[in-house]
Amino acid sequence: MTDQTPGTVTITLDGTNKSSTIKLLEGTIGPAVADIRKLYADLGIFTYDPGYGGTAACESKITYIDGDEGVLLHRGYPIEQLAMNSSFLEVAHLLLNGELPNAAEKHDFDMGVMRHTMLHEQIRSIYQGFRRDAHPMAVMCGVVGALSAFYHDSLDVNNPDHRRISAFRLIAKVPTIAAWAYKYTIGQPFMYPRNDLGYAENFLYMMNAVPAEPYHVNPVLARAMDRIMILHADHEQNASTATVRLSGSTGANPFACIAAGIASLWGPAHGGANEAVLKMLAEIGHVDNVKPFLDQVKDKNSHSRLMGFGHRVYKNFDPRAKILQATCHEVLAELGIKNDPLLDLAMELEKIALHDEYFIARKLYPNVDFYSGIILKAMGIPTSMFTALFAVSRTVGWISQWKEMMEDPSQRIGRPRQIYTGAAQRDYVAIDQRA
Ligand code: ACO
Repeated sequence: MTDQTPGTVTITLDGTNKSSTIKLLEGTIGPAVADIRKLYADLGIFTYDPGYGGTAACESKITYIDGDEGVLLHRGYPIEQLAMNSSFLEVAHLLLNGELPNAAEKHDFDMGVMRHTMLHEQIRSIYQGFRRDAHPMAVMCGVVGALSAFYHDSLDVNNPDHRRISAFRLIAKVPTIAAWAYKYTIGQPFMYPRNDLGYAENFLYMMNAVPAEPYHVNPVLARAMDRIMILHADHEQNASTATVRLSGSTGANPFACIAAGIASLWGPAHGGANEAVLKMLAEIGHVDNVKPFLDQVKDKNSHSRLMGFGHRVYKNFDPRAKILQATCHEVLAELGIKNDPLLDLAMELEKIALHDEYFIARKLYPNVDFYSGIILKAMGIPTSMFTALFAVSRTVGWISQWKEMMEDPSQRIGRPRQIYTGAAQRDYVAIDQRA
C-alpha cells in the first residue's frame, strides 16, 4: 500500500495496471479505517481476515475500546466512573438511548423495564419440556427464542415503537428466564419477579427466595451484582454482539437475534470463561499444583489454556478486571470469607502468571472472567449460572447494538466472502464407476 493523498490509500495490483483508491474513514477516536467496499469492483480481489481482527464491520456510537491503553468507554463515559457511580438500568438507558437519563427519564425508563418483568403464563410450561439437568444456557437459548411466539405485537423490526417495546421486554424478562432456569434445575417453585426491587436485587431474589419464608437481599451483594452487570453490559463488536448484528441484518426479529447471541456467548472462549475459571481452579486444587499447571498451559501440545487470562482486544490490562478485583475483596469481607482456598489459589495463579515470561511476552493479563467467577462463587451463585448471568447483563448491549443497526440507513445483510480451497469444478461420477 502506498499513501498518495492524506485520507486515502492506493493499492496497485502488481503486474497489472489496475489500482484502487481507498478512502480512510475517521472515527471520533481510534485508528482510521480503510473503506474497502470498492476493492472487488476495482481489482477483483477480496480481503482475508479470519477472526475479523483487523476488520470494522459497522459504524457504532455505543462503545469504544482502546485495548493497548486498557480503555473502555460507553457513549464516552469511562467504565470505571459508570461502575462506581451509576446503576445497571441507568447504563442500560445510556447504551440504548445515547445519554444518561434525567430524573424523569430515569423514572420512566425504570418503570418501562420493571413493568415487563413477568413472563406469559404459558411460558411456564415450556420449562417442563426440559430435562431437570439442562444447562441454564440451553434453557435460555430456547426460552428467549420462544418469546417471538408470544409477543407478536412487537415484531415489526421497522417500527420504532415495536423496537422500543421489544427492548424493554428483553431487558426485563431475561433475568426472570435465567432465574427460572435455575429454579427448574433444583426443583424449587418459580419465584415471580418483584417490581418494587432494583434490577439486580430482583434477580437475586428470584434466584434465592422460596415462597415458604421471607427473603431479604443483602444490599452489599445487590450492589456487587449490579456492578458485575454494568461491567458486562456491552463490549463493542465481540463474538456474540457480532452474531446478534449478523442475525439482525437479515430482518430477523429481536428475540430470535438475542437467542443467537446467547448461543454465541455460551462458548468457553467467550462468556463460558468464568465458569471455566472455576472448573480450572477446582482441577488445580492446591497452590502446590500451580507451577505444573502453568507448565502444561505453556506447552503448545497440551491445548490447555489459563482460563480467565488473555483477551482479543486488551493487550495491556482489562479495566473491568481491575474494578472486579476490588469488588471481589469487598464481597469476601462482607460475607466474612477469609483465607478462602479457592481465592488463595486464584491470587497465587495471578501473581505467578503476571511475572512469567510466557504471559508477559504475549501480553496475557487477567480478564473480567477471572474475578467475576470468584465473586459469583462467593455469593453462592452456582457455577452453571455464571454464563447465564453474563447473558442477562449483555442483553442490554445486544439490543442496543441491534437497535442502532436497524436505525442505520446504510445497514445491509451481512455476508462475508471466503477463499475457496476445495476441488475445482468436476463432473459427476456414477456410483458404479467410483474408485
Ligand atoms: N493461556 C495460555 N496461552 C494463551 C492464552 C491463555 N489463556 N491466551 C492466549 N494464549 C497464547 C496463545 O497460545 C498464543 O501463543 P503463541 O503466540 O505462542 O501461539 C498467543 O497467546 C496468542 O493467542 P491467540 O489465541 O492468538 O489470542 P486471541 O486474541 O485469539 O485469543 C482469547 C483471545 C480467546 C480470549 C484467549 O486469550 C483465550 O482463550 N483465553 C482464555 C479464555 C478466556 O478467558 N476467555 C474470556 C475472554 S473475555 C470475554 O469473553 C468476556
